[in-house]
Amino acid sequence: MKLRSVELALTGAAEAAAFLTDIWGMAPAEVRGGTHYLRGSGGFPYLVALEEAAEPFLRSTTFVCSGERLEELKRSVAAAGLAARPVLSNDPGGGEGILVELAEGEVLRFLAGAEEVEPIEGRDLPVKLTHVVFNSADAEATGHLVEQALGFRVSDRTKGMVFVRCNESHHSTAFARAGFSSLNHIAFEMEDMDAVMRGIGRLRDHGMVPAWGPGRHGPGANVFAYFIAPFGPVIEFSTAVEKVPEDYAPGAPEDWTWPPNRIDQWGMSDKDFDGLRKAEEMFRHRRDWEAASLEV
Ligand SMILES: [Fe+2]
Repeated sequence: MKLRSVELALTGAAEAAAFLTDIWGMAPAEVRGGTHYLRGSGGFPYLVALEEAAEPFLRSTTFVCSGERLEELKRSVAAAGLAARPVLSNDPGGGEGILVELAEGEVLRFLAGAEEVEPIEGRDLPVKLTHVVFNSADAEATGHLVEQALGFRVSDRTKGMVFVRCNESHHSTAFARAGFSSLNHIAFEMEDMDAVMRGIGRLRDHGMVPAWGPGRHGPGANVFAYFIAPFGPVIEFSTAVEKVPEDYAPGAPEDWTWPPNRIDQWGMSDKDFDGLRKAEEMFRHRRDWEAASLEV
């Protein structure tokens, strides 16, 4: 199971695509039916889809998996009683699978048979997405739900977050204890720490400073730099998230405390709590499809 892409709907899709390609550092993949698809250097045909809409919302977050894993998912999703339906992807790479709505409206899409493309060169391109994080009214409940309904595993719990993995990467998603439901942020995996730092430099050329970072997180130990994108959402340059074994023992909030004046391992950066919070409220979840039987 791998995290592949996010599908965003928003006003000003073309401008958002221009920012992500010209400044952030993605490569255009394709424009199809008015939707802009942007890719990184890795084998996924796209990482971000930008669809023009009257107001912003997060259409879906897409994972790719084997046919066998998809069949397991159909059974566990149906058993959990979640709203879901079979789906054929019209996005680059195609594939067939299911759409699933979690308890707070988060729409996840799981595809099998989605095609990959040849990697491309580019040391300032993101390689892939490394995580997509959601705000939750009840992050604890959602952590349990994704374990039960999706076979994901909680890696760590902190005062602020429930970190969840779907493969050996410490987390591919997380649920923030926010008190409301929305997209928290999208994190791009950069080739190495230098690529993160050069990204900060590139944005600085355009008058943008990190809303938080550079720094190194506790859980996952990844390097980060968060920005508020001109088109609204919080986006992150990240690299080197930890890999964990199958039997990794999940940490509890009391295992993940910081010394005074620290909220990351380095302590070199301020965090714009208010700006980030406002940006996190922009992309809400929306299900514009009817649930249907998964025929399991
Ligand atoms: Fe992150």
